[in-house]
Amino acid sequence: MKVLLIGSGGREHAIAWKLSKSNKVKKIFCAPGNGGTYKNDKCENVDLNGIDSFLKFALENNIDITIVGPEAPLVEGIVDKFKENGLKIFGPSKKAALLEGSKAFAKNFMKKYGVKTAEYEVFEEKEKAISYLEKCNYPVVIKADGLAAGKGVSICETYSEAEKVVYNYMISDVFKGAGKKIVIEEYLDGVEASILSITDGNTIIPFISCMDHKPIYEGNEGPNTGGMGTIAPNPHCNDEVLKEFEEVILKPTLKGIMEENLDYIGIIFFGLMICKKGVYLLEYNVRMGDPETQAVLPLMKNDLCELIFSALDKKLKTYEIDWEDKYSCCVIAASGGYPEKYETGFEITNIDSIKNLLFIAGANYKQEKLVTTGGRVLAITSVKNTLHEAIKSTYEDIKRVNFKNMYYRKDIGDN
Ligand code: AMP
Ligand code: GLY
Repeated sequence: MKVLLIGSGGREHAIAWKLSKSNKVKKIFCAPGNGGTYKNDKCENVDLNGIDSFLKFALENNIDITIVGPEAPLVEGIVDKFKENGLKIFGPSKKAALLEGSKAFAKNFMKKYGVKTAEYEVFEEKEKAISYLEKCNYPVVIKADGLAAGKGVSICETYSEAEKVVYNYMISDVFKGAGKKIVIEEYLDGVEASILSITDGNTIIPFISCMDHKPIYEGNEGPNTGGMGTIAPNPHCNDEVLKEFEEVILKPTLKGIMEENLDYIGIIFFGLMICKKGVYLLEYNVRMGDPETQAVLPLMKNDLCELIFSALDKKLKTYEIDWEDKYSCCVIAASGGYPEKYETGFEITNIDSIKNLLFIAGANYKQEKLVTTGGRVLAITSVKNTLHEAIKSTYEDIKRVNFKNMYYRKDIGDN
């Protein structure tokens, strides 16, 4: 089988690595891929950008299946376009992708189908949002409706902070249209969990639970990033939590997907907050998480290609996913200054000394040297019998690699 894999991050390197283990997969074209996929078995990077170029390539190269890593092409409607052209593609339709592409759509869907989530209101006029803020309890959470590269959520401690955020989102238009409409919601206090899952539109099978560490600094201080490290399974997701998740989140979500005819065959990722008063859904994502994927896929025993085809054939009802009875820990090495300003172009040294799994994110080969190209540069994942061993082994490895201004959190898995 010939696969086209869209995306260029650490998540896509992990997907490519996992797919390359499948006997069914002969070749993986990574569009555009990165320095990790460049060296990965069965992979070839192809310099493509935009839905039309992906489509042209898939048609001309007899691609058997296209797998989409990031949310942007899904929200733009890549799945509908490929299907119109008779091509097989794994991902939600444009309408289903609104579960991530529009926070207002997602919250209204949750409310309609009884998915447990924070109380909220949607606003399209600044005056109405401000008068609502005057009578809110604080802290309050303000979210841009559209995609904002993970930066569209503000937790505001006071009215004056919230007023400024509303002004920045709706009037200064810092998210170029994505914050013209906003959601204001109740603040939930708890611990977060990421549950990736796969759906064929009739069944949702959850993957092993995972815990991300979003803020840049230790102790969860500082601005949010795309994620600085993950552990799986998530130690807070005990049987009771998972049972509640299934009842109050997964089942009503599936009912909604079916009743709304969302045409959803793909990944659905539940961002949860586990609180004293129960398990809440913060958000849906319509793709795998980054760096959740780098911790979760190494624990999956099944053939990923086979699993994806079971979903496309709508046969998930009888499919079972098996997980290693082990623990994984993934730590991200980032460019100093990320998630704000950072420099790139630095050579990464000693990667051959890494003993665990290496997933490249923002780095590419230039004249046989691996050089940094992005904020999150690489991830190291180890899989061990205990969480403690996994954490220890990942940190031993990450100390071996080096590039100028390299930064990583030292407390992944501690909380
Ligand atoms: P989201 O993009 O909706 O997942 O939000 C990004 C991050 O903001 C989440 O991972 C949480 O850390 C935080 N967050 C979002 N919504 C809430 C909420 N209602 N209460 C507390 N924290 C939240
Ligand atoms: N790591 C969080 C995300 O991928 O959205």
